[in-house]
Amino acid sequence: PLIKDLFGLTDLENHLATHLRLKRVIVVPGDSDRSDWVKKEMGRAVARLLKAISRSNQVVAVAGGTTLAAVAEMMTASSSLKTTTFVPARGGLGEVVELEANTIASLMATKAGGNYRLLHVPDQLSDAARETLMKEPRIQEMMELVRSACIVVHGIGDAKAMAERRKSSPELLAHLEQEGAVGEAFGYYFARDGRIVHYGRSIGLTLEDLARAHNVIAVAGGSGKAESIAAVCPVVGGGTLITDESAARAILSDV
Ligand code: F6P
Repeated sequence: PLIKDLFGLTDLENHLATHLRLKRVIVVPGDSDRSDWVKKEMGRAVARLLKAISRSNQVVAVAGGTTLAAVAEMMTASSSLKTTTFVPARGGLGEVVELEANTIASLMATKAGGNYRLLHVPDQLSDAARETLMKEPRIQEMMELVRSACIVVHGIGDAKAMAERRKSSPELLAHLEQEGAVGEAFGYYFARDGRIVHYGRSIGLTLEDLARAHNVIAVAGGSGKAESIAAVCPVVGGGTLITDESAARAILSDV
């Protein structure tokens, strides 16, 4: 805490929590846009928090992305996580395999010494195909498990960067631009005022499900994501944000 106070990080955390209407904010020093090491420090902070709030036989749902991959990398075995089941928060969202929520869930479980269950659903399903799939008993059973998660850990991305990374159509890119999308989480694209401007079709946790989870932990940093974090956090609301100093200062300088 002493080091944090020298950097004024505790103040930043408190201001940001109020501004974003969150229960708790943890700020690590640095800028993860510039250094991978800072991303890992955010990962370490998430790993520490997870250990502290874990209960036996819980389900932890995790999203995909490079930040969540850093969280997985920093997980270490602990007795409190031995009976934890890690699951993906959503089915495929168009990420490469290394960054898919399934991969992150299995990696986290292996590092933490816990268990995992995976959700195998393709990214781009038609409505009809998705409905058929949702009737499959195994998928239904898995969805129940995912919805029972008491902890959800997710990333936040820049809307345009995420749409491009997912190789979205030119029509969708134009729509997002026109509607002023700035942030993305769980397949939802948000405008600056928190309005949902697009929702990608996939199977998994919805915003309504999130409201039921006890602990929602967002992890995202880098000044480039300031606007995205500021748009997404108040909507998902009430939980914890783990971020870096550079994003924190950029969000508050915009106020
Ligand atoms: O695609 C999964 C996801 O968690 C998105 O919801 C989010 O926008 C993105 O990854 C964050 O990715 P990164 O941590 O690589 O910026």
